Amino acid sequence: MEVIDKHTGLFDKIANMYGWFFHKQRKGYEIALKRLDETEDLSSISKVLDVGCGTGALCAVYAKNGFQTFGIDSSQKMLMQAKKRTKGLSIDFQQASVANDLPFEDSSMDMVSASFVAHGLPKDLRLKMLGEMNRISKNLVILVEFNQTRRWYIDLIEWAEHGDYFNFIRTIDSELSPIFASVKKVQLNATSCIYVCKKIR
Ligand SMILES: C[S@@+](CC[C@H](N)C(=O)[O-])C[C@H]1O[C@@H](n2cnc3c(N)ncnc32)[C@H](O)[C@@H]1O
Repeated sequence: MEVIDKHTGLFDKIANMYGWFFHKQRKGYEIALKRLDETEDLSSISKVLDVGCGTGALCAVYAKNGFQTFGIDSSQKMLMQAKKRTKGLSIDFQQASVANDLPFEDSSMDMVSASFVAHGLPKDLRLKMLGEMNRISKNLVILVEFNQTRRWYIDLIEWAEHGDYFNFIRTIDSELSPIFASVKKVQLNATSCIYVCKKIR
């Protein structure tokens, strides 16, 4: 529990600054959703959950695309930024931690995502999060995350952040494959990709 609180505490501290990048992030997530749409049939997707939604940039893109959108995060301050920056959009934000069972029924969402959350969590918590995403989604689970390509500035930031990035990039493929029926990687740029995971092939 100490690790979780420490991690959430960091995001409480940097929430205001994180908010400055909202518009840049939103543009990036518009491109990511377009890339996903090019490779997956999203026509039946209407209800979506973003786990570790932060300041709400991905939620904003979902809502603008007409999805019924839910976002959870353990940091109250990140959620305050999210509510401020997505004013006018219909998004249901709730405070919840992936350390606990999330407050959604089994198979209650068409798609569950997490963007740049998994690499920051210790492995046990990451597996708990993936289990919850798998339980809540009808089929599609997506991680927008780092791929295995290293850059010195990412190494530096991740070293300073004390997350699990260096293990994550080594082990994520082998962590996902026993949980999901299929996993595909859709490249976004040099250092990130979408891990497209399905419960049913
Ligand atoms: C690097 S930020 C990414 C935020 C957002 N997804 C984005 O793309 O900008 C990681 C987020 O995960 C959240 N987080 C960390 N630990 C969490 C936990 N145990 N449960 C839920 N959210 C958590 C943090 O508060 C933070 O908002």
